[in-house]
Amino acid sequence: MPISNEKIEQMLASIAEMKAAREQEIEEMRVKWLGKKGEITQLFDEFRTIDKEQKKEFGQRLNALKNAATAKIEEMRAALAEIAGPATASFDQTKPGDVFQLGARHPISITREEILSIFGKFGYSVAEGPEIEDDWHVFSALNFPPEHPARDMQDTFFVQPGGDNPILLRTHTSSVQVRTMEKMRPPIRVVCPGRVFRNEAISARAHCIFHQVEGLYIDKGVTFADLKQAILLFAREMFGADSQIRMRPSYFPFTEPSAEVDVSCNICHGKGCNICKGTGWLEILGCGMVDPAVLEASGIDPKVYSGFAFGMGIERIAMLKWQVKDLRHYFENDIRFLRQFETAI
Ligand code: DAH
Repeated sequence: MPISNEKIEQMLASIAEMKAAREQEIEEMRVKWLGKKGEITQLFDEFRTIDKEQKKEFGQRLNALKNAATAKIEEMRAALAEIAGPATASFDQTKPGDVFQLGARHPISITREEILSIFGKFGYSVAEGPEIEDDWHVFSALNFPPEHPARDMQDTFFVQPGGDNPILLRTHTSSVQVRTMEKMRPPIRVVCPGRVFRNEAISARAHCIFHQVEGLYIDKGVTFADLKQAILLFAREMFGADSQIRMRPSYFPFTEPSAEVDVSCNICHGKGCNICKGTGWLEILGCGMVDPAVLEASGIDPKVYSGFAFGMGIERIAMLKWQVKDLRHYFENDIRFLRQFETAI
């Protein structure tokens, strides 16, 4: 049918009467009027073929028709959205929910908490110190001789080398025993957890960053027998009530005498397996009686007081407890690895 005023009037009237209850109906109406083959679109196609005089007559009216249809469709959409409410209009209630992925506590945190809680039961409190330390607290006050290899660039990360008291990243948490002795008077009973740094190549058995817990007990009349008892009780809490310990003579500049402590293998119970390399024993820590020179350097009179100290690697304790074979797992943050430990204690 050719363009005529009558036709445009009819179309305007039917557009004004349009009603829709659903989004889909509105879309159908849009296609009917304004789609590629819609009635208004067809009128525009026709409009191109008519002569100049008629173009003048119908141009404005056709535009008005198109605007009326567009406005009506918008109006119906808005009305529908208002009835449906903003959330339900696009919310599919049958869609499965997104699963919220829970993380897990890190095995190093779990082990640290367990070590601290065991010593907490023995009356030890927690002390902490800085990771960026000076030479005095990491080496000199702990009786390290000036030429000791740990003071070498190859073993220690220096922040500010040179001078009387270089600044460095602590290589052990024994520095916190010095800071504690400077601040507190005996009796002292502390455990000092923390991160330590050594210039090591990263491998399955070594890392340049790891964690330690240092222990310190100073009072009148503390003996090696007290040290042995404290370590035995700790080993039994940590690795099982039937655990045994053995002490091997060792050397540390800050303790005299010094020992390394092994615990009976918690896998084969002393029979020998590949975890304990057939020996039945696993090394867990270093310890000893605090050297009188160390007490004196921090202002505690060695003629009145004595004490013991011990230090253990948290990664190592966790490895022995759970048979983790590669130290690097601790640093990769793979949730499949981390999830294995939460329920293990
Ligand atoms: N600081 C030592 C280390 O990092 C561990 C240690 C050994 C600490 C003996 C002590 C100790 O307190 O008495 O290897």
